[in-house]
Amino acid sequence: MSSKKVALVVIRRLPRYYRYLSELLLNGVDRISSKDLSERMGVTASQIRQDLNCFGGFGQQGYGYNVEYLYREIGKLLGLENGRTMIIIGAGNLGHAIAGYSNFERRGFRLIGIFDSNKGLVGDKVKGVGIMHSDDLESFIAVNKPDIAVLAIPKVSAQDMLKRLTATGIKGIWNFSMSELKVPDGMAIETVHLSDSLMTLSCKMMQTEME
Ligand code: NAI
Repeated sequence: MSSKKVALVVIRRLPRYYRYLSELLLNGVDRISSKDLSERMGVTASQIRQDLNCFGGFGQQGYGYNVEYLYREIGKLLGLENGRTMIIIGAGNLGHAIAGYSNFERRGFRLIGIFDSNKGLVGDKVKGVGIMHSDDLESFIAVNKPDIAVLAIPKVSAQDMLKRLTATGIKGIWNFSMSELKVPDGMAIETVHLSDSLMTLSCKMMQTEME
């Protein structure tokens, strides 16, 4: 596997390959051509070959791809090989919804802690994980070394929380806080805006209505 930096647009397509391959594996498919994979995924075969060539290929001329091998290799590229641990900060509606979504665990993301500044929530359990007070965040991180912190807190608290998290040395932030946060070198952030997706849908609907 090549260790060079890969374009973000390619990285963004990898989870989709991973999902399709996991479905193929579940259906007992052990080999697939780039043409078949492209038809299932609705992208061109040359796109698939180009994407996978960024990482050194994985396919064989005339054979196609070994599904299990490709699944494992893409899992490695996605950093899922050894699993990831995560904590959620903010145990409100969104924090509960994220904690309750079992598919993350299936993808290798294990929830090990939930924190909230509301003392009234401390001790409640979400998916078997007890909510802790956010004052205990740093000591928990020092001992348990989670890989990812999920920010499910309001925008006003996000910047301060990021500062605290940066000092702990945590490496990944999954940011739902509606705040455009910048992280220092050595840290990665992925910001999610569900409303962007909804507005994109609305725009697509306008376009189909115009056809
Ligand atoms: P919520 O009000 O139900 O929960 C927020 C929780 O965060 C509360 O339990 C509160 O006590 C806790 N909290 C506030 N400041 C904190 C701090 N400094 N440390 C620890 N805990 C703290 O709100 P909800 O619906 O769960 O949404 C959470 C945030 O996520 C909101 O800001 C909302 O705008 C945002 N959101 C973003 C979405 C997205 O697509 N990016 C989708 C839905 C919500």
